[in-house]
Amino acid sequence: MIEVVDQLDALRARIVAWKRDGLRVGFVPTMGNLHAGHFSLIELARRHTDKVVASVFVNPTQFGPNEDFGCYPRTPDADAEGLQAAGCNVLWLPSVGAMYPYGADHAVQMHVPGITDTLDGASRPGHFDGVATVVTRLFNQVQADVAVFGCKDYQQLAVIRYLVRDLAFPIEIMAGDTLREADGLAMSSRNQYLSAENRAIAPTIHRLLQAMRDAWHAGMPREGIEAIADQFLRTAGFVPDYAVLRRPDLSEPMDGEGGALVALVAARLGTTRLIDNLEFDA
Ligand code: PAF
Repeated sequence: MIEVVDQLDALRARIVAWKRDGLRVGFVPTMGNLHAGHFSLIELARRHTDKVVASVFVNPTQFGPNEDFGCYPRTPDADAEGLQAAGCNVLWLPSVGAMYPYGADHAVQMHVPGITDTLDGASRPGHFDGVATVVTRLFNQVQADVAVFGCKDYQQLAVIRYLVRDLAFPIEIMAGDTLREADGLAMSSRNQYLSAENRAIAPTIHRLLQAMRDAWHAGMPREGIEAIADQFLRTAGFVPDYAVLRRPDLSEPMDGEGGALVALVAARLGTTRLIDNLEFDA
């Protein structure tokens, strides 16, 4: 039976007892409204650790002034049921007061330089500061050995890896593969907001990522691929934020360079913003 914990003392006591027994603890931070993609992260954590904690906390500091924190979907009963079925041991449900004892506006802030200014960071200023701030707090609260994040939020994963390395957090970061619908659309809580017409268009993003990879393999210059991808999205009915090829650290690759690359797309379809990416070897 999953244990639901909303007091930090109780969470700490549970983790200390597990560690006293020599058990390894895995952690999956979330903002709730969970779907199969999240549950696959719990299963990944279970395969590598003895006990798994998931947190559900809708973090106010990662929402911009025009992004509606109040409307973020909250589905606590379904989340707890799904976590239990996925084999999660503890659901950590901190209140805003427990997370930010001085209030969210007076909290100590984290800032990861460089990689947070680009891509999603450019269109969502302050977003990754909020993510780094809450993830630092969650890591301190849970004291896990392993934390699992989805590859779908590629830039978030890069920010967290940077944070963990720079601050020497004693935690291993694992990345879970993106789960897809049968037509290739990356699973996301946001897919539920797509109209039927836009739901049919949305898998275009996955096909575009594959085409960007194939164009790179065919020797096309990066800027040409990005310009065609942007135009392709517009023609299909999206309003693109970006469609780019990058290295895993989000720097720009030189034309013809080898090594690991990633194609990344973020685009609005109606009122829904979709993101996806595809890693490949050049
Ligand atoms: O990916 C998310 O759901 C959130 O950004 C995270 C990592 C739980 C921090 O609030």
